[in-house]
Amino acid sequence: MKAAIKDLSQHVGKEVTLEGWLYNRRDSGKIAFLVVRDGTGLCQCVVAKAPETEGFFDTARRLGQETAIRLTGMCRANEKQIGGHEVDVTALEVVGESQDYPITPKPHGIDFLFKNRHLHFRSRRQWHILRVRATVIDEIRSYFNRNGYTLIDTPIFAPAAGEGAQTLFEVDYFGEPVYMAQTGQLYVETACMAFGKVYCFGPTFRAEKSKTRRHLTEFWMVEPEIAYADLDTVVAVAEDFVHSIAQRVLRDHKEDLEFLGRDLSFLESIQKPFARITYDEAVDILHGDKARELLENDLTTKTARIEELNKAITEKEAESTAQGVKQWKKDKLIAEVAEHRDELADLEEEVKNIPHHMELAKNFKWGKDLGGSDETIISRLHERPCFVTHYPRDVKAFYMKKNETDDRLCNNFDLLAPQGYGEIIGGSQREDSYDELMAQINRHELDPADYAWYTDLRKYGSVPHGGFGLGVERTIAWLCGLKHIRETIPFPRMMGRFYP
Ligand code: 4AD
Ligand code: MG
Repeated sequence: MKAAIKDLSQHVGKEVTLEGWLYNRRDSGKIAFLVVRDGTGLCQCVVAKAPETEGFFDTARRLGQETAIRLTGMCRANEKQIGGHEVDVTALEVVGESQDYPITPKPHGIDFLFKNRHLHFRSRRQWHILRVRATVIDEIRSYFNRNGYTLIDTPIFAPAAGEGAQTLFEVDYFGEPVYMAQTGQLYVETACMAFGKVYCFGPTFRAEKSKTRRHLTEFWMVEPEIAYADLDTVVAVAEDFVHSIAQRVLRDHKEDLEFLGRDLSFLESIQKPFARITYDEAVDILHGDKARELLENDLTTKTARIEELNKAITEKEAESTAQGVKQWKKDKLIAEVAEHRDELADLEEEVKNIPHHMELAKNFKWGKDLGGSDETIISRLHERPCFVTHYPRDVKAFYMKKNETDDRLCNNFDLLAPQGYGEIIGGSQREDSYDELMAQINRHELDPADYAWYTDLRKYGSVPHGGFGLGVERTIAWLCGLKHIRETIPFPRMMGRFYP
């Protein structure tokens, strides 16, 4: 009977047929061990040299990595093997040949892997990450659907900027310029006046000219918008929403997270209430002793680690070129050296930047937006996600609501994920006064004609309202504990990367 590897526990003691691809192979002359993947899991399949396997034993021993195969055999429980089961093969058929598969178990550089992204996500680590992604997206939709929000799809071709003109991608639209959507927000604002609570969810585009580990040029964002809401209401929704995503991932993906080396106790500790500070308090933190000590400490531990790695690299290289080293040992050492070198390159870059980040924090001037390194400091000094509210109005988007008591500030927030992950959400109450909004549009030197439809909302039954945008990829990077955002999306788009 045809079975999925993830369901093998229901087939112990029975004959099953698996359809998949050869992930890995080992053979001892008399037995070939085939590790097969079928998209739902991995299973070791055993082909013993025997009269009944005569027709395919030699084929089994020579199968290339990623050959598509269909096999039949008896399913046994085996706790020690990957996935917890084994299949004793009695029939084997090659469905699609594979020779010289480019991504071998040996280490490859990042560039190579991403040029082969169409094959790369067959690898285990990528497979685990993208499974988590699918669940995060499912939870995003379920959360809003079960809480009374109506889905509103917003356009991708937009006539004007939603989030600042510097990061617009322009497209020729039958001779006229239009822009790829940076946000669906302005459109969901119109819709919340019709439906009360709404959300949009789709790809958004920003011409980010920086190659950081947090920036993509195409990323997915979910944006809820709520009528009759002030800043506190929106913050409470963001808190409950992020909590529910974290709990769902923890519930459904323990094994994936463990494979990725994510500390589950850390995820378990993501409980409400999250921390909440104002921008003013954030500035005090940046100027304070704790921030300085954190970075000084980084400098010491990272410098020590660099020395340690350099020593390990020298030793392992010597060992791998020594006479009489077995090939498997040599391969292992070379792989370890490559890993050390990757870590070393990251650390050297980080150590180089620490003095600069210290300067930025120490000399941070009230009135500036928080930069990436500032967010990292604040987020590392909090164990739970941290809301930073009430930024200076001048550095934020034109649509944010002016604070009632201090008109230098706006009623907005960013949510910073802990452990240095930084901003995963940006949100605000929206300016609901027609006159204030027009003043802002003029102050930001935007063309009021482009926004006439948007300012109309403030003419016909304007109400306090607000919402936020959560970046899917940054959230996944944080939940999975990944260094770089590029692994969180099937086909990443970044400056200098748009193939395949
Ligand atoms: O803070 P941002 O720019 O907010 C907005 O776009 C608002 N219109 C949202 C709203 O209020 N409806 O972006 C929101 C989130 C960020 O917190 C971040 O998680 C993600 O989108 N994001 C990016 N993710 C990956 N790459 C980029 N270049 C990103 N820019 C923003
Ligand atoms: Mg932001």
